[in-house]
Amino acid sequence: MNIAIDGPAGAGKSTVAKLVAEKLSYLYIDTGAMYRSLTFAALRQRVNLENGSELRTLLDTLTIDLKHDSEQVKVFLNNEDITEQIRSNEVTSNVSLVSSHEEVRTEMVERQRLLAKVGRAVLDGRDIGTYVLPKAEVKVFLTATVEERARRRHEELQAKGLQSDYEQLKIEIARRDELDSSRVFAPLRKADDAIEIDSTHLTIPEVADAIIDLTKERT
Ligand code: C5P
Repeated sequence: MNIAIDGPAGAGKSTVAKLVAEKLSYLYIDTGAMYRSLTFAALRQRVNLENGSELRTLLDTLTIDLKHDSEQVKVFLNNEDITEQIRSNEVTSNVSLVSSHEEVRTEMVERQRLLAKVGRAVLDGRDIGTYVLPKAEVKVFLTATVEERARRRHEELQAKGLQSDYEQLKIEIARRDELDSSRVFAPLRKADDAIEIDSTHLTIPEVADAIIDLTKERT
């Protein structure tokens, strides 16, 4: 049994996926964190982000582990904890370019399918329902208006006491959606059999409950 949650940046996929996984005792697999980890490594080693085969050569030297503790999912790159670093602005603004290369995606998808084989897993990303797990029993496409997604991110940053510019966030989120939707290989797209949930006026628990109900209907 696999649950696929796809959608644009900042729609709340990871928070919802985590909650659903927790409530159903499923494994949560954050596929975005895997692309972010490669981006982090590539920036650090000054690999040309336009070059898919160089990125693939780098990826072949990397292990990326998503380790769950009671609080959060920690991300390890060759056993180094990079949980915080992969959320930096630099990684966020380059990850769509890195993930656009077919050489990178084919390897990532293989790793993701292997992880999902444990059975009961929730995966969130952009191409889970369309490409990674086209036979997933539950497929959700989670959206929200760009204004709402920017507002949530803005509040999150402010709550952490970090500098944040709402208008700038709106531009960055829209740019990332555009890049992710327009890439040639496995773009961000709603699967034909996915259920679309617009979270603009819903809370995280409301969205999670809707997905849990869907899952129960299908088991
Ligand atoms: O989900 P998150 O915002 O962390 O994803 C970061 C980026 O990784 C996305 O903007 C997208 O470029 C890429 N990604 C992807 N396919 C996935 C998950 C993430 O291309 N399945």
